[in-house]
Amino acid sequence: MKRVYFLLAFSALGMNVYGQKTTDQRVAELLSKMTLEEKVGQMVQYSGFEYATGPQHSNSAAVLDEIKKGKVGSMLNVAGAEETRAFQKLAMQSRLKIPLLFGQDVIHGYRTTFPVNIGQAASWDLGMIEKSERIAATEASAYGIHWTFAPMVDIARDPRWGRVMEGPGEDTYLGTQIGLARIKGFQGKGLGSLDAVMACAKHFAAYGAAVGGRDYNSVDMSLRQLNETYLPPFKAASEAGVATFMNSFNDINGIPATANQYIQRNLLKGKWNYKGFVVSDWGSIGEMIPHGYAKDTAEAAEKAIQGGSDMDMESRVYMAELPKLVKEGKVDTKLVDDAAGRILTKKFEMGLFDDPYRFSNEKRQKEQVNNQENRKFGREFGSKSIVLLKNKDNILPLSKTVKTVALIGPFGKETVSNHGFWSVAFKDDTQRIVSQFDGIKNQLDKNSTLLYAKGCNVDDQDKTMFAEAVETARKADVVIMTLGEGHAMSGEAKSRSTIGFSGVQEELLKEIAKTGKPIVLMINAGRPLIFNWAADHIPAIVYTWWLGTEAGNSIADILFGTVNPGGKLPMTFPRTEGQIPVYYNHYNTGRPAKNNTDRNYVSAYIDLDNDPKFPFGFGLSYTEFTYSDLVLSSENLKGDQKLNISVTVSNTGKYDGEEVVQLYIRDLFGKVVRPVKELKGFKKIFIKKGETKKVEFTLTPENLKFFDDELNFDWEAGEFDIMVGTNSQNVQTKRVNWVK
Ligand code: BGC
Repeated sequence: MKRVYFLLAFSALGMNVYGQKTTDQRVAELLSKMTLEEKVGQMVQYSGFEYATGPQHSNSAAVLDEIKKGKVGSMLNVAGAEETRAFQKLAMQSRLKIPLLFGQDVIHGYRTTFPVNIGQAASWDLGMIEKSERIAATEASAYGIHWTFAPMVDIARDPRWGRVMEGPGEDTYLGTQIGLARIKGFQGKGLGSLDAVMACAKHFAAYGAAVGGRDYNSVDMSLRQLNETYLPPFKAASEAGVATFMNSFNDINGIPATANQYIQRNLLKGKWNYKGFVVSDWGSIGEMIPHGYAKDTAEAAEKAIQGGSDMDMESRVYMAELPKLVKEGKVDTKLVDDAAGRILTKKFEMGLFDDPYRFSNEKRQKEQVNNQENRKFGREFGSKSIVLLKNKDNILPLSKTVKTVALIGPFGKETVSNHGFWSVAFKDDTQRIVSQFDGIKNQLDKNSTLLYAKGCNVDDQDKTMFAEAVETARKADVVIMTLGEGHAMSGEAKSRSTIGFSGVQEELLKEIAKTGKPIVLMINAGRPLIFNWAADHIPAIVYTWWLGTEAGNSIADILFGTVNPGGKLPMTFPRTEGQIPVYYNHYNTGRPAKNNTDRNYVSAYIDLDNDPKFPFGFGLSYTEFTYSDLVLSSENLKGDQKLNISVTVSNTGKYDGEEVVQLYIRDLFGKVVRPVKELKGFKKIFIKKGETKKVEFTLTPENLKFFDDELNFDWEAGEFDIMVGTNSQNVQTKRVNWVK
């Protein structure tokens, strides 16, 4: 009892058991010493001057001066032990010596880059995803970075949207699990650890649902859909203690996310009780003027802070307007205190008040310049992200002793492009990136020959290199074609209206195919592409996304069978752009098409099958997996009972391999209609050839809950189909009846 009084007494004084002040106490004390301008200063973030990740309007001398005056809380795009130290020194000249936070887009690796995030998602390997962020955090923090603007947890059903490369794909469940793994990796043992960076769940919210897949476009959807499909990864991130949120450029049903009280005040900071802070997206506060939501910068600042934006990234509106607005009584000073307090809390938690330079350590940075362990992991992660889409007559894996191999295509000898989009650092670091040519060459037998021809450029109409490529193919026993879209054709502001191979690459492929040589096609992309001719005519296709520093080695590991491919698509691949959005968890409609031939008054196109080219969850292996014996613990359940599900998976092929076993459900009838399938679980398992494994899942009523039209989140009694299989189309099904 005494101990309880002791604890209570200390916490009333704002102290912990050791008599030290708690963070809340330190924040309150500091706030009480700060002027209004200094508080608003904490809410200001500028970009550094070397590279910008958005439209910049900076006057560098003025920014440096403002830091010294305590009018800047954070810088982005300032990195490196030396540079961060120099900037921090300026902040230490300010009246209250409040340290700066350094943020950076550490999106898929840092010094060692990993597959672009959609590729990582294709691994369905949460352990590897977490580990990759652990490595990214260790490397980035050694370069003085405190904060990454990741994970992007935007669910996206439209591959025209360029930013699908940065996200987890189309599924809410998978996307949530991936988001959580990434946050865990970034934040490690917790804020304050020297190798942890603050994570940022972005872009809040529904940025991935831009109309027409055009970046920054409006989002118009029911609140039910918003809550059910787009918000769960954010809610989970908040519950997991993600340090920050970033809002988004889009409007949601007419209200820009940046000033959206419903999502930021009612949900995030209200119902979800989130304690971190929200940074705007680059310039998004000022952009409420062209949106037509604020008539000038004063109104933009007012609406943004009322709406819950705590930090202004590069709009340069908060410092210009907020002090005035507070003095005029238009903005309650409590809102400023709350926002500045949230930001200061993170600075305390990061240990920056104890030592503002603790992350700016040249020795640590040096250790991460070319970390071999990290590269080794990157190589493995790359191969696990590759998806085998076709392997007619088991052309793959290739023998290392094939006499002559030709590598043809514009990406064969590329280095930097293997980074993919969003690799803001080390673009000039060409020496360390393993090209596809080098990766393949390193694994081919020394008596074999690797020929190379570029064939064409990535994105123009020049066919003058075709002849040489055809000649090269003729000399080879096997041709490996490396085609796709340019590495900077996906990413921010990289929406495409047509999503095939760019330029004349498909024509090149057709010319090479005429030689009759066996062809293995590697597709480099940051999104699902449409490549029907290739899918129908080329015997072997591997989807390699962009794989990062070790790309060439990861690719060669798959091509020569050192690693058996086990990746599965995290997005549906359409047949044509006209089919978009096409996603597996759609509703059935009142007139579902039963097959692809009868199109009479059913929900179908008269000129196109409804099926996608490749379904969600699809991916082949060099071995064969056979599913049998779907067993349910009961077919009649009541209330909170658990449903145990098991399935037997046998490796009946010739190689050891990994399989992602997927669990879907369908709620047959509901207060609101339910999707034809919903992913509810998955297990990635390794099975040796000739062996069999039993895979088990458990469902509870919690997994059956959905939002009704009044936003109640609950489950309904009724019948449910339980489906387990190798992808979203190929499943075994059993039905249960579940009463309340
Ligand atoms: C992007 C954000 C990014 C920020 C800073 C914006 O344009 O939308 O995702 O974190 O720039 O680079």
